[in-house]
Amino acid sequence: MNDPTLAGRRCLITGAASGIGAAIAVAFAQAGAALALADLDQQRLERSADELPGTRHALDLTDPDAVRALTEDVLAQHGGIDVLVNCAGILTEVPLVEMDLATWQRMVDVDLTTVFLTCRAVVPHMLGAGGGRIINVASQLGQKGGAGLTHYSAAKAGVIGFTKALAREVSARGVLVNAIAPGPITTPMIDDLSPDWKRAKEAELPLGRFGLPEEVAPTAVLLASDPGGNLYTGQTLGPNSGDVML
Ligand SMILES: NC(=O)c1ccc[n+]([C@@H]2O[C@H](COP(=O)([O-])OP(=O)(O)OC[C@H]3O[C@@H](n4cnc5c(N)ncnc54)[C@H](O)[C@@H]3O)[C@@H](O)[C@H]2O)c1
Repeated sequence: MNDPTLAGRRCLITGAASGIGAAIAVAFAQAGAALALADLDQQRLERSADELPGTRHALDLTDPDAVRALTEDVLAQHGGIDVLVNCAGILTEVPLVEMDLATWQRMVDVDLTTVFLTCRAVVPHMLGAGGGRIINVASQLGQKGGAGLTHYSAAKAGVIGFTKALAREVSARGVLVNAIAPGPITTPMIDDLSPDWKRAKEAELPLGRFGLPEEVAPTAVLLASDPGGNLYTGQTLGPNSGDVML
């Protein structure tokens, strides 16, 4: 560790086994944080154990009891939670007219309700400790929408609205709540999209290329840090190759 930006901060990161969550875990570790890494995929979570120090917590974040147990476990093992990063998520592509209710509900459960569940479990402890940071990973599609992605776009817009509302509720008591809305990022989540779709999407982007997970992670470090993140709350930061300009 040679960067003290997050020295001693106890950080719970969901979706930490893959993609953007894994890159945030690496960046936080390099910045001196103590990590609690949560994900559905126990095998992948364990695979990084040699390189990345921290506790591992395998669970389905859509299960409210499991989220409560996760919070108690992390508090017992780390003594507190200073930073919560909500990065777990799924992506499926279905035109609206073909979408069944189960597909819609699964998306809302995983990409939006998990954020509610983790925040509901963790916020009381942050308030009790006098402060904390929450970083919710949304998507630029929650800002601009995407064809075939009504469920995903709605869930991610929900994350952005939730972030603003919670920021208004708890910021004065020291808990700063922000969102990151990345553009297309090369991770397993978008592996299955066709090369044609990817080429067309890249051509739309002002930067002309997708991002890498390690190009998103520094935004999370900024939001978690003191003094860099001190004036951000209720904001949505956009490492998105220019796909959305606000
Ligand atoms: N990749 C992109 O282009 C992109 C763009 C914008 C936003 N995002 C968002 O970034 C976040 C991370 O995505 P990624 O691209 O790294 O994807 P990824 O598939 O590489 O990682 C997502 C992780 O979430 C975990 N997860 C899924 N459902 C879970 C559940 N019910 N309980 C616990 N863990 C669960 C998965 O096991 C996986 O490890 C997601 O919220 C995604 O919507 C991704």
